[in-house]
Amino acid sequence: MPVCFSCWVWPWDYLRFEGEYYRHFASGGAQVPASKNSSAEHWSQWWSEGHITSFGPALINNYEGATRAHWLQIFAELSEADILDIATGNGALATLAVECAETHGKHFQVTATDIAAIGEHTSSTDSNIPRWRGQISFRAEVPCEQQPFPDASFDLIVSQYGFEYSDIDATLAEVHRLLRPGGRFQAIAHHASSGVIKRQVLSARVYQAALQQLKLFTLLQRHFDSWGKARNPQAVEKLTTKPKFQKSHNALENALRQFVGAFPNDETAARLFCAIDDLRGDASRMSPAARTAALKKQEAGFLGAQARLQDLFGAALDSDRIEHIRSRARDIGYSDATAEPFLDEDGALAGWSLRLLN
Ligand SMILES: C[S@@+](CC[C@H](N)C(=O)[O-])C[C@H]1O[C@@H](n2cnc3c(N)ncnc32)[C@H](O)[C@@H]1O
Repeated sequence: MPVCFSCWVWPWDYLRFEGEYYRHFASGGAQVPASKNSSAEHWSQWWSEGHITSFGPALINNYEGATRAHWLQIFAELSEADILDIATGNGALATLAVECAETHGKHFQVTATDIAAIGEHTSSTDSNIPRWRGQISFRAEVPCEQQPFPDASFDLIVSQYGFEYSDIDATLAEVHRLLRPGGRFQAIAHHASSGVIKRQVLSARVYQAALQQLKLFTLLQRHFDSWGKARNPQAVEKLTTKPKFQKSHNALENALRQFVGAFPNDETAARLFCAIDDLRGDASRMSPAARTAALKKQEAGFLGAQARLQDLFGAALDSDRIEHIRSRARDIGYSDATAEPFLDEDGALAGWSLRLLN
């Protein structure tokens, strides 16, 4: 059962809210935003937090199960190879390639590129990971569509939930340019009907409700403004009878109530609520400038998460887009292009497995 941080008690049936308990029921949500405009900043932010995959702490030591097995099998088929992982993030696939080389005595030169800044370290608990990552040639701020390598530099180019975030047509041409004759491009890409996508639809609604509709951080900032120069809990307490304090307090409380009422039992909503509630508590011991800075930092973190979800929805491929990729690949000059649904270890749809032969 998920545990809510410092302020909240699961289950969400009963929510502590300034001394009261409320029973909440689900209600509808806002429309899910979708965008294909990928700015690297929100990805750089994520990778700077030390995650090795985009799944964060859930996959702290790299991909597991069917995904791991799929890639290890692909790497195991080679004995000596120049390998490129595009849209690598913090190097999850590239790390698996190095692991495979070390375990099976293979000779791989592994390069990894991403449009974002790549984290120097990961927070993985497997002590091998820093050593494996140390053998990868990372190149940050490199788009899939335009790679800084000569023609025919690689035997294998790989991508895990990566190339579909780019301009796909341009990337297919670039990958073709970089592959040696007989080389191949292997990818697992997001599938528009996969569980990964479906699970995130509600999270996107939560972010939109909190950030754009209810504007929780704006209301919190207004409430902080009503505290004036107060910088300890006693001084804040003295303001509670002032109309400005009460107005901003009530506006924030009402919005928070609407928010938790709309999203019971949702972990993303719990995280957002707790962040705001914790901030409100901690801020009473801060200077006005420090509490604004703390609020902006929290808000930026959630806006980044929302932007990554927008990228995800824009990237997910349906059958039509897969057919487009296959036909485009043939036009570009690949000798073969296959795509099939990729299932995880529980048999659930987890993406598309794509293979393009040069
Ligand atoms: C879902 S993450 C996957 C990262 C990694 N492959 C993994 O499995 O952990 C998508 C990555 O695509 C990168 N990306 C988005 N657009 C890109 C582009 N046009 N060129 C290169 N990388 C891009 C993002 O910066 C992000 O690191």
